[in-house]
Amino acid sequence: MKLPELSLAPMAGYSDAAFREICRQWGAEMTYSEMIAARAVLMGTAKLPEDACVIQLFGADPSELAEAAELVERRAVWINLNAGCPVKKVVKKGAGAALLKDLRRLRMIVREMRKRIKKALSVKIRIGWEKDETERIVALLVEEGVDLVEVHGRTATQMYSGGAKRDVFERIRRTFEIPVFASGDIYTPEDVEELLNKGANGVLFARGAVGKPWIFKATRLWLENRERYNPFFDERRATVLKHLRLLAEEKGERKAVLEFRKFIAPYTRGMRDAKEFRKLAMKLEDFERLYRIFDEFFSSSFLDPPGLQASRF
Ligand SMILES: Cc1cc2nc3c(=O)[nH]c(=O)nc-3n(C[C@H](O)[C@H](O)[C@H](O)COP(=O)(O)O)c2cc1C
Repeated sequence: MKLPELSLAPMAGYSDAAFREICRQWGAEMTYSEMIAARAVLMGTAKLPEDACVIQLFGADPSELAEAAELVERRAVWINLNAGCPVKKVVKKGAGAALLKDLRRLRMIVREMRKRIKKALSVKIRIGWEKDETERIVALLVEEGVDLVEVHGRTATQMYSGGAKRDVFERIRRTFEIPVFASGDIYTPEDVEELLNKGANGVLFARGAVGKPWIFKATRLWLENRERYNPFFDERRATVLKHLRLLAEEKGERKAVLEFRKFIAPYTRGMRDAKEFRKLAMKLEDFERLYRIFDEFFSSSFLDPPGLQASRF
C-alpha cells in the first residue's frame, strides 16, 4: 500500500464517521477513528467504524489490547495504538501517554499486539513524558516490529503549550528507516511542506482540519502546483450542510444538533456577522432550524471574500 501523505488525525469528539467522510471528500488520503478503549471492544460496547479508516485503540493491558486489536483488525485499514494522549482521565489508568513513562509496558503491549495482528501496526506517541526521548522510544518501536510511528512533537507534560518540535523528524530520519507521520500545529500547506522536507512521510491534520476540511485539497494543490485554494461560500455551505446531514444519519437529529455545536465557531470563523450567527446557532435545539439558518447564513455571505485565516480553536 502506498503510504498516505495527508491524513485526518484521531480526535476524540471530532473524528467520527461524519467528519471522516467530510475530510475524505476534501481529499484526506487516510482518516483515523476517535480513540476506542480496548476494554470496550472486549465488552462489545464500543462503537466501531464501518468505513475504511485506521482504528485507534487505547488501554494499558497488553493482552486486552492485543485481543481488541485482533477483534477489530478486519474492519481497519491498519491498527494504531494511542501512546500519546496526555488527558488525565486516560493517563491515570496507565493508558495513552502514560505508556511513555513505562517503556517496559509499552514494549510488552506492542509485542503482544504485533503477534496477534497481520495488518500494519502504528503507534502514536509524543516525544516523551517530560523530556524529549524520541530516539529511545522510536528504537523500541522499531525493535518490536511496528510499521509506522505518528509523532506529536511535544512532551506529554507540555499538553498543548509551546510549539510542536519539528526537528524531531530530521532526527528520526537520520537514525531510522521506519515511516513517520508528523503531528502538531499543522495548519497550512507550508507547514506540511516543511515537515515533508524534514523527512516526515506524511502528516496528520488535527485542529487544522476542524472547520476547514478543505485544507487537504488546498495542501495537495499547493504541493503539486503551487496553487492556492480557498473554497467559495457555496462549497463551504455544501460541506457544512452535508456534515450536519451525515451527523444526523449517524447519531440522530437531536444528538447531531448538540454535537455540531463545537463545529459552529470553526466553520464560521472570519465570516461577516459570525458572532451574532453563533449566538443564535448555539441555542438551537431543532435540527431543521439549525440546518436552515446555516443554509441561509452561507447563502447570504456569498459576496464576502473567503476567509484566509487558519482554523484554530
Ligand atoms: C479535541 C482533540 C481530541 C483529540 N483526541 C485524540 C485521540 O483520540 N487520540 C489521539 O491519538 N490524539 C488525539 N488528539 C491529538 C491530535 O491527534 C493531535 O496529535 C494534536 O491535536 C496535535 O495536532 P494539532 O496541533 O495539529 O492539533 C486530540 C486532539 C484534540 C484537539
